Amino acid sequence: MKWFSLALTLAAPSQAFLRFGCATLSVQRLDPIVQPGRVPSSHLHQIVGGNAFNATMDPKVNVGDKATCTTCSFSEDFSNYWTAVMYFKARNGSYKRVPQYPNALLGSLTGGMTIYYLQESFSTNGKQKITSFKPGFRMTVGSPANDKAENPGLRYTCLQDVMTRFPETAEFPKEPCPAGIMAIHHFPACWDGKNLDSPNHQDHMYNTVKGAFTPAGPCPASHPVRVPQVAYETMWNTTQFNDKSLWPEDGSQPFVWSYDDRKGYGTHGDYLFGWKGDALQRAMDSTSLISGGLKTQTVAQANKCAIQNTVNEPIDGCKLLCVFLTALANDSFHRAQYAPRYVGI
Ligand SMILES: *[C@@H]1O[C@H](CO)[C@@H](O)[C@H](O)[C@H]1NC(C)=O
Ligand SMILES: *[C@@H]1O[C@H](CO)[C@@H](O)[C@H](O)[C@H]1NC(C)=O
Ligand SMILES: *[C@@H]1O[C@H](CO)[C@@H](O)[C@H](O)[C@H]1NC(C)=O
Ligand SMILES: *[C@@H]1O[C@H](CO)[C@@H](O)[C@H](O)[C@H]1NC(C)=O
Repeated sequence: MKWFSLALTLAAPSQAFLRFGCATLSVQRLDPIVQPGRVPSSHLHQIVGGNAFNATMDPKVNVGDKATCTTCSFSEDFSNYWTAVMYFKARNGSYKRVPQYPNALLGSLTGGMTIYYLQESFSTNGKQKITSFKPGFRMTVGSPANDKAENPGLRYTCLQDVMTRFPETAEFPKEPCPAGIMAIHHFPACWDGKNLDSPNHQDHMYNTVKGAFTPAGPCPASHPVRVPQVAYETMWNTTQFNDKSLWPEDGSQPFVWSYDDRKGYGTHGDYLFGWKGDALQRAMDSTSLISGGLKTQTVAQANKCAIQNTVNEPIDGCKLLCVFLTALANDSFHRAQYAPRYVGI
């Protein structure tokens, strides 16, 4: 199958941004940014991108050189992108994993996410220099310990159909969503220009995101370097759970993240840069992004890229006590590891 619809997307004029699909690489309890080397990590993630992904991901290793395949449609993108995993919690206390589905515009990838690298917005690069991330760069956005709506870049959309994009909410939708729930993660785009990471994985970045895909505010002097505005969209197919007789008797919504969050304010995402060579910089320097010289691969090739599991445990569901839903048991660990941080301008 050819990247017919992707080519159409990229061929449209004045779209100064990258938008592409990445199939699921793995669903495992691994977290090489927040809990490097820990097998298993405290909660389950869904991961897309290059096959250099493992529990450790030493920042000194250039994953763009190490990986040999990627689940992303751009074949030079060996970055890894991950979020928590959504579950349905039944009245009897059991959990069932919610399946993911791909953005239909981007081809029939298996599950996964839609990834964006914006210069400024869909229609302009803002005439500013966008500096690519460097090998070893990583960051997180959001925090599982967060219990209020803080960052306008972390949102949900209740999908009436696959094209629904508004409204966005800070917490899980309260009513059944006919085409599922889209989880949205916008990362900060202001970098301190020095550190590839920081102890809480956020302080080397500064968030000026104002929500949706509106242009972010200017970067402050402390974090002067404008990097690509990275965003994820993950489509969760909740439709098999839309019968309200299955929902909690108190009328609340039944979905829960894999760190046991039923409100949804703790939603977070992890990014680990791994583009090969200067491919991302070339793309950001290109005004059309079609001439960025980025190579693509077929859906079949993207779907085929895989890694071996290092954590072997059932993840599709469980009764009452789920080992992979441990965040509450480990709340102090999470609070220490993720300092909630969002600063708007
Ligand atoms: C993970 O990758 C690192 C290099 O980034 C390597 O040193 C390590 O052996 C790998 N670990 C596993 C379990 O494959
Ligand atoms: C719990 O409820 C779910 C959904 O209604 C059902 O599929 C599952 O079989 C039930 N589990 C037990 C142990 O009764
Ligand atoms: C969503 O799940 C339903 C029920 O399992 C299935 O019939 C439908 O094809 C799925 N939709 C997509 C877009 O995968
Ligand atoms: C909680 O985190 C601590 C510290 O990393 C770890 O030793 C412990 O095994 C974790 N407990 C659970 C239930 O995962």
